[in-house]
Amino acid sequence: MNTRKTLYINKEGHLTIGGCDCLTLAKEFGTPLYVFDEDYLRGMMRTYRDTIATEYGDGLVLYASKAFSCEAMYAIAKQEGIGADVVSGGELYTAMKAGFPAEKICLHGNNKLPQEIGYALDCGVGLFAIDNPAEADLLDGECAKRGTVQDVLLRINPGVEAHTHKFVQTATPDSKFGFSVQSGAAEEMTRHILAKKHLRLRGFHCHIGSQIFEKNSFCIAAEKCLAFMADMKKTLGFRADCLNLGGGFGIWYTDEDEKFTFEGYAAYLRALIGAVKEGCKKYGLDLPKLMIEPGRSIVGEAGITLYTVGAIKEIKGIRKYVAVDGGMFDNPRFCLYGSKYTAVLAGRADEQPTELVSVAGKCCESGDLIGVDLNLPAARTGDILAVLSTGAYNYSMASNYNRNLIPPAVLVKDGKAEYIVKPQSYEDLVRNDVLPERLK
Ligand code: LLP
Repeated sequence: MNTRKTLYINKEGHLTIGGCDCLTLAKEFGTPLYVFDEDYLRGMMRTYRDTIATEYGDGLVLYASKAFSCEAMYAIAKQEGIGADVVSGGELYTAMKAGFPAEKICLHGNNKLPQEIGYALDCGVGLFAIDNPAEADLLDGECAKRGTVQDVLLRINPGVEAHTHKFVQTATPDSKFGFSVQSGAAEEMTRHILAKKHLRLRGFHCHIGSQIFEKNSFCIAAEKCLAFMADMKKTLGFRADCLNLGGGFGIWYTDEDEKFTFEGYAAYLRALIGAVKEGCKKYGLDLPKLMIEPGRSIVGEAGITLYTVGAIKEIKGIRKYVAVDGGMFDNPRFCLYGSKYTAVLAGRADEQPTELVSVAGKCCESGDLIGVDLNLPAARTGDILAVLSTGAYNYSMASNYNRNLIPPAVLVKDGKAEYIVKPQSYEDLVRNDVLPERLK
């Protein structure tokens, strides 16, 4: 297990997070329930923020809010003095509702809608990461109408692609994101943007993947971006003063993954900073403003999901299914990616696991599983099951499939828990339904 100061097993053998006993949380708020450890996610924000400040200088951490977006998250990021990466009008709206400073927001998206572009300009978003020529044209035109000039980055594909534990240096140019440095498309787009009167190109952005443990893949990507910056300086006389290296730092899901402490993440970032400094020296560049966009590593391990065990079905000689009151509607990551998780029985967290079981959801679909071959003590109906490291890309990818209710989320700190996302009701499910008169 990934125990820490704010996530541990107490004397009664109960799982405890943010000073709250998980059995008490389940009783008070019901299940399924997303629980977020405030100290941990603030700790991660501070780790990145302080490492850049002390080891690098000019830079900004942008919380990749696609990992978990709700007003409280933007409010916390604001308090911690970091920025945010948003990818839709909806994420931007949520940030604005929380009073987040627009100038610290970078808007992403390979197909930003005209209304999203207009809305982001109205909000005064600091940076747009441009990802297609039509977007540059549209944004330039909108800024011309408003008599403004917008800071932008160009999303490039440096030819490094990283997946969990692996990376390849010859990433396929077949990606819907970015412009290939290798093929010359990135240079062409740089020219395209530089010709726009109402866009101020500040530099480049790349994002090489997610759940990456291989420091080297980041370092190589940074080096390639800097080589491209040097190239653009030489061939176009363009001096980029901003480099955004995206997100992707890996987290612990199971003991197959590396487990980093805050200091481990600081070291991870220091390696990347070292590569940026070295690359600048090599190519004779001034240090650009450095941005990173961590999402999963800020919020992933901060979150756990609590479920109540319901039906248990043993198929002799094949497998045992332990069904919970959640499923793919609150965590679709097993269905989508075959993702692995660690689960514990929150009330008997000190018991040794004795069997391998599959944790099934309650949706009408065979593939609706939270995980297969999870190591657990014999579960009983009524037990509270905690699935760990569910803070990132669970709530944000949740759905009302089968008209199940998306679980609420609570923020825990120093033994206190409060809602940051309220429970849905059945009435919420039919709120937008329309029953035409003739069907009544
Ligand atoms: N910046 C950009 C431009 C991105 O596309 C992403 C993630 C991030 C930052 C944040 O990356 P992170 O630090 O969270 O790895 N739904 C998938 C993950 C999709 C990630 C998409 N982009 C999952 O559940 O694993």
